[in-house]
Amino acid sequence: MTGRVWFITGIARGLGHSLAQVALERGDRVIGTTRDGALPGGLSKQDLEVLPLDLGDPASIKQALASAYALHGRIDVLVNNAGYGLLGPVEAASDPEVRDIFNINLFAPLAVIRHALPRMRAQGCGHIVNISSIAGIAPAPGSGIYAGTKAALSAISYALSQEVAPFGLWVTAVEPGAFRTEFLSSRSILRTAAHIDDYAATSGRAVDGLLCRDGRQAGDPRLAALAILEAVEAEEPPLDLLLGSDALRRAQARLDHLDDDLRRWEDVSRSTDLPETA
Ligand SMILES: NC(=O)c1ccc[n+]([C@@H]2O[C@H](COP(=O)([O-])OP(=O)(O)OC[C@H]3O[C@@H](n4cnc5c(N)ncnc54)[C@H](OP(=O)(O)O)[C@@H]3O)[C@@H](O)[C@H]2O)c1
Repeated sequence: MTGRVWFITGIARGLGHSLAQVALERGDRVIGTTRDGALPGGLSKQDLEVLPLDLGDPASIKQALASAYALHGRIDVLVNNAGYGLLGPVEAASDPEVRDIFNINLFAPLAVIRHALPRMRAQGCGHIVNISSIAGIAPAPGSGIYAGTKAALSAISYALSQEVAPFGLWVTAVEPGAFRTEFLSSRSILRTAAHIDDYAATSGRAVDGLLCRDGRQAGDPRLAALAILEAVEAEEPPLDLLLGSDALRRAQARLDHLDDDLRRWEDVSRSTDLPETA
């Protein structure tokens, strides 16, 4: 099936840009958003509409979705892609820093979904793709708050997929590892304003290790976009789509840890049931 209509947030650069490019090459129509509505370099105007969207402004989200439906009357693939990172130990993150990142990485995608779902449900087919992160499955020191936004997005995607399946809708949470976009640059990653020396060996070390990988990440954004396209076109799309061998390694390590805790603490876990339910 070609001729689908995609709605993709954050196509100015990075994964969103690659995804718009790949969908256009596939013969689909794309409605992409940038902060100012300007056409990003490297994308052909043919079959592409660019809308302004300020993810921090609920009215802007409502307007962008209304404009998208006014353009093509449908959205077949809704991609919540735009987002940013916050680095620093959990204790150092201020309340406004936490609220800001949850606003952009979680509340904005939820608002996008809420505005689209009534039309998508009525349509009886479609796919919601939420760009989460491997951090949401296997959080690391130094990026716990960012991981929290992505864990919430993945968890909500999982529940949502079960709720909307009867309407013919699919939901996929994409969990990439490190991809060579500008995500690790100061354009996309904020540091907590507060700094706590006591976390140098944990959060500090992890953050240094992460930032020195900028420009050397193994993941190719174009290949990520092609993988997402493959998932969208699959007869049985995945609920979770991990991207990158680093993502696979981190997820497996997390599963092993969970499995270990489950087995070692199984008796204690079972001991909390009321006796009559045994
Ligand atoms: N690259 C990775 O290693 C990686 C790994 C896991 C998950 N991810 C996720 O993948 C998604 C895309 O990231 P990327 O790698 O493509 O990074 P990127 O190159 O930094 O691109 C981020 C995109 O999000 C947009 N954006 C960020 N904050 C925004 C805001 N407040 N309002 C509107 N637009 C905003 C940016 O627009 P501007 O250009 O206007 O800033 C840009 O288009 C993000 O959700 C990220 O968390 C990335």
